[in-house]
Amino acid sequence: MRKKYIVGIAAVAAAAALTLSGCSTGRTTSGSSDSSSTTIKKGDLIGVALPAKTSQNWVLAGQDFKDSIEKAGFKADIQYADNSSPVPSQQAEINSMLTKGAKVVIIGAADGSQLTTQVATAKKDGAIVIAWDRNILNTKNVDYYVAFNNFHVGELQAQALLDGLKKEKGSGPYNVELFAGSPDDANAPLFFNGAMSVLKPKIADGTIKVVSGQTTFNNASTQGWLAQNAQKRMTDLITGYYAKGTKLDGVLSPNDTLARAILQATKSAGLPNPVVTGQDSETDSIPLIMNGTQYSTIYKDTTLEAQAAVDLVTTLSKGEKPKTVDNDKNNDNGKIIVKSIELSPVLVTKDNAVEAYKNNPDLEKLATANQ
Ligand code: GAL
Repeated sequence: MRKKYIVGIAAVAAAAALTLSGCSTGRTTSGSSDSSSTTIKKGDLIGVALPAKTSQNWVLAGQDFKDSIEKAGFKADIQYADNSSPVPSQQAEINSMLTKGAKVVIIGAADGSQLTTQVATAKKDGAIVIAWDRNILNTKNVDYYVAFNNFHVGELQAQALLDGLKKEKGSGPYNVELFAGSPDDANAPLFFNGAMSVLKPKIADGTIKVVSGQTTFNNASTQGWLAQNAQKRMTDLITGYYAKGTKLDGVLSPNDTLARAILQATKSAGLPNPVVTGQDSETDSIPLIMNGTQYSTIYKDTTLEAQAAVDLVTTLSKGEKPKTVDNDKNNDNGKIIVKSIELSPVLVTKDNAVEAYKNNPDLEKLATANQ
């Protein structure tokens, strides 16, 4: 288990500090349901339903939640979706938590569009519903959303791509390809739309050329966040557009798992190393960041993210009103603007990695050792 480190309350409060921003799209905000009538007390059961372990951050989340929930004086029931049938298994797990009397269900959705029935049951049972890391879509029955600002993750990834191209590929114009996350992950369009808000003007002015012409989320998405799907698509793109000497300067990758798969494909094809972005600060990617193989990643500290959700539960148990933010770029779930606690993602390259990981001894050590 990752060595735990003490994060000062101030640091947690700062990390969960709200960025007051965004105007709502006129939708109502969550919390208008009867969540205020729910009473939570120490010793109550808190259910945590997590998706399958598609990347390291989900593996870490389970232990972080167990530690934080028990330290706060509640009981934890933490369950992961089954890799082979993530949606039905997670639906059943949420129902089982409610049957056991969970007063709060914290949900990292396997597919945020397929939990409408489960969250309706939760509200009928008087439980609080907290969407965690990924939003739950097209329902009013979500009380809060605790996550990093994932639209801003995409903005940071796109800016890193542009910075890396300028640093490593001369003055441009640059040939790039675009990858996005899984279509069943509510975060994936946020990452992509955030990135495209930065890249679209650069495509329009000719700085960036997507040689394949594949510039929509559907073109770029990667089912299940599976490395093999990204590696195959990158290989197909190389065969189709870069086999006759056309240079590939950069690739927008939405997380580290896919970044490593993309780099494997370009290396196997004998292409020069493109500038590739990522996310999640996975331990397998940090040495690649430090030696320049992968240009960037994003640090979203799951310990702080889990702590922010548990702090929210503690606030509610005291009968206090949480300070939340309405940011319709990040927490519009298609029905309501879900009241959110928003944490700030951090862009990491080899230049700032040791500093960025200063509160995480494992990652700091890994970055320092590979400097
Ligand atoms: C997203 C998460 C990302 C990434 C991805 C892959 O929802 O926010 O950090 O890990 O899932 O599972």
